[in-house]
Amino acid sequence: MKAKRLILLGPPGAGKGTQSQRLVDDLGIPQVSTGDLLRAARKAGTELGNQAKAFMDAGKLVPDSLVLALVEERLAEKDAREGYILDGFPRNEAQAKALDDRSIAIERVVNLAVPDAELVRRLSGRRVCRDCGASFHVDFHPTKVEGTCDRCGGETYQRKDDTAEVIQSRLGVYGEQTKPLIAYYREQGVLRTVDGTGEMEAVYRAILEALEL
Ligand code: AP5
Repeated sequence: MKAKRLILLGPPGAGKGTQSQRLVDDLGIPQVSTGDLLRAARKAGTELGNQAKAFMDAGKLVPDSLVLALVEERLAEKDAREGYILDGFPRNEAQAKALDDRSIAIERVVNLAVPDAELVRRLSGRRVCRDCGASFHVDFHPTKVEGTCDRCGGETYQRKDDTAEVIQSRLGVYGEQTKPLIAYYREQGVLRTVDGTGEMEAVYRAILEALEL
């Protein structure tokens, strides 16, 4: 049986979003990406979105109170009853503890391991669809038509936090605040580390293996 309450853990650019999209199709459970939820809140011009903006543009973590409210609301939705793929959450120990406080246990945490130099290459060439959020890369996963999403036909763009300076800030924040969660989940016995450096297909197969309970 495959795990259905899972976390994809890993540094910025490790492939969490890319791999989550495939898992959504195969496992029939939703992807809950706090980055996507925050970007949607910004686009909608909500109070929360406005408060998150400066933190996101600087590559810093958005305050826990804002993120936890978003996650709680999303996990209460009907489609998340049978399971979910958490992508980009939790990102520090306080968030992980808040997740532990919910009565539903996380079954598997997949840690995608990718070295920094590769992360920088991936993030600086990434293009994202404005409409459906699908992720592409100018060299590794180009769209068939430049600037147009293969999945929904929407326009693709480069994220504002995918610039050299902000990428360095995000990698620093990951090392200080998120990386310690590897040990946190190892101690809980739910962690599996997957080499995230191969072809997308090979990484996906390794993730499916890691999800077997
Ligand atoms: P978020 O949107 O979550 O960004 P992130 O964690 O930095 O992760 P990314 O989306 O950059 O990377 P990814 O691992 O999904 O990689 P992808 O699959 O796209 O967060 C943005 C901001 O929101 C944060 O900085 C923070 O401010 C805030 N935030 C979010 N969550 C928060 C939280 N919980 N608490 C507080 N603040 C929060 O892949 C990257 C590229 O590589 C793509 O171009 C892809 O095509 C390519 N690629 C993927 N796999 C491969 C492969 N195997 N080979 C070659 N290329 C590949």
